[in-house]
Amino acid sequence: MNEQERIKQLRDELNRHNHSYYVLNRPEISDMEFDMLMHELEDLESRHPEMDDPLSPTRRVGSDLTKGFEQVPHVYPMLSLANTYSVEEVDQWVDRVEKNLPGEKAVMVGELKFDGSGISLIYEHGRLLRAVTRGDGTHGDDVTANVKTIKSIPLTLSGTGWPDFFEIRGEIVMPWKSFERLNAERAFNEEPLFANPRNAASGTLKTQNPAEVARRGLDSYLYYLLGENLPYDNHYDNMMAAKSWGFKVSEAMTLLYSIDDVDKYINYWDTARRDLPVATDGLVFKINSLRQQLNLGLTAKSPRWAIAYKFKAERALTRLRFVSFDVGRMGIITPVANLEPVQLSGTVVKRASLHNEDIMRQLDIRDDDMLYVEKGGEIIPKITGVDLSQRRADAQPIQFVSHCPACGTPLVRVEGEAAWVCPNKWGCQPQITGRVEHFVGRRMMNIDGIGEEISEVLFATGLVTNIGDIYDLTKDKLMNLERFGEKSAKRILDGIEQSKSVPFDRVVYALSIPYVGETTAKKVARAAGNIDRLMSMTQTELEGIEDVGSRIAESIIDYFAAPVNRENIERLRAAGVQMSMPESSTRQLSNALDGKSVVVSGVFSHHSRDEYKALIEAHGGKNAGSISKKTGFVLAGENMGPAKLEKANKLGVPIMSEDDFLKLIGE
Ligand code: IVH
Repeated sequence: MNEQERIKQLRDELNRHNHSYYVLNRPEISDMEFDMLMHELEDLESRHPEMDDPLSPTRRVGSDLTKGFEQVPHVYPMLSLANTYSVEEVDQWVDRVEKNLPGEKAVMVGELKFDGSGISLIYEHGRLLRAVTRGDGTHGDDVTANVKTIKSIPLTLSGTGWPDFFEIRGEIVMPWKSFERLNAERAFNEEPLFANPRNAASGTLKTQNPAEVARRGLDSYLYYLLGENLPYDNHYDNMMAAKSWGFKVSEAMTLLYSIDDVDKYINYWDTARRDLPVATDGLVFKINSLRQQLNLGLTAKSPRWAIAYKFKAERALTRLRFVSFDVGRMGIITPVANLEPVQLSGTVVKRASLHNEDIMRQLDIRDDDMLYVEKGGEIIPKITGVDLSQRRADAQPIQFVSHCPACGTPLVRVEGEAAWVCPNKWGCQPQITGRVEHFVGRRMMNIDGIGEEISEVLFATGLVTNIGDIYDLTKDKLMNLERFGEKSAKRILDGIEQSKSVPFDRVVYALSIPYVGETTAKKVARAAGNIDRLMSMTQTELEGIEDVGSRIAESIIDYFAAPVNRENIERLRAAGVQMSMPESSTRQLSNALDGKSVVVSGVFSHHSRDEYKALIEAHGGKNAGSISKKTGFVLAGENMGPAKLEKANKLGVPIMSEDDFLKLIGE
């Protein structure tokens, strides 16, 4: 691959990770890995100005703007910090700064880099006026109502000497204690967990309910004072003044007078940070004198007068006891390293996922190996390497199992994927109970009272061996079980009754159709409208649904081809479970399209693609995924692909514009 190709690849990859991080709140790689990719891209782009693109991920600061909050401009843009993982590079920064300040000595301030959500607070006449998130750096969300609930933020200032109008910036953090309590609560309610305190803090700040924010126990640390009439000409004294007005300023903030001081500060906090009550991801060094700061100036993205040193993910070394193999509800086998318990950033780690056979092989894990475990800010620890110096000479590589550890069936490998799967879908206990647990989950049928333990009991006693059996449960059957009282039986039966009004799209998600997650289930359910239509859709028809590719379409067809599944569907239907979308979303509006097959292509301005697909069906047409001789016409928006256009022309298929289509259906 040449450098130009690598630039494109890096841009795609970083865009994808930005989305996982900012939109899905589900980071897939560590910050360090992300930063490394970003640095590589910055480097390559600086050598290839001809590849310049204003939309490159290097040209934006990630945005946290959310609908529902008023967006307000920042008085001063919120820049980010240049960062590094190496002490040498921090030292080089000090050298560079001193070179740029000829004949002057530079005093620095060392600080913790808090891992939360950046905030800008505006005070007028000593009263909190506004609190704004970082947003895209120039505009942020007005989250004043939420921030007011955070106890460490003064609403009115004490002491003396504050300017009449000023801004103070800092970080909203969720202390480890609050974070653990919140996640325990969410686990109990079967809500998705926050991956780390940073996501929990920013998610909480964006909650539309200040009472909920107040309950979650956020905290704050302030680290930057801005304004016209600041009391002192240096950062440190200004922050100490801010402290005297009532702001929370970290005790770790220290004046540093030399490179030697800087290195000692790094050395100390590299380990001492483990005992802090809040998450930190590094240190920040700033030039103390405001005049020197002004002289050093800014680059497009960050000030030259500050640098962040980022901690490497916390790592521990511990011995492998054995590798076990978990069986998921889809039959996928996950190898898990069972470890001698070891302390890692505040918790004891005993198990870490090895993901799949390929990853296990790459790590080359052998009997009794000493393994490196990392947590990198996420909850689920991972194995990142082996300490070869401590390996026994005769240690044998760990073999991946060839048979299912639960039912003994020989495993099969899914083509094109790293996963081994137990094909015994209907006879393998963890798969069956896993599907039952998924079916009853909060976001699916929401049947309270059946967790992991109860679903295993129900399976062992033969009461529930597939999802259809759930609706045959009775009070008598449940009360015959050991340790089952009237109350717990009633809870389950009430839940079952209520599940009959759960909308059809959630029913589709609850079925555990491989590759059909929550979003896909919604799209499929809406497009099909009801279960009979869904069960009879062809591969092409399914592929016509937005976001459904060939793999998902095949999986849906396979699922409904299995007699067990069809039988279960009939049992659910007979029990009264919703098997169609409500009237209004599928109502027949006209017969204007009269059975015509329509291909939708391009970008539209009046409705979304999904809405057009729904309109086509509502007016008696059919959606198709690709153009053929049978296509009635192509509904084309902007930027219809050239290949499609050519094919339509070749086959003589008419192309219809968005406006003409709307006229045709009388809208
Ligand atoms: S100073 C112009 N100091 O890190 C410099 N930032 O990547 C303004 N952060 O957006 C930032 N602790 O949210 C500064 N002690 C600290 C910090 C800190 C955490 C965050 C902040 C900023 C990001 C920069």
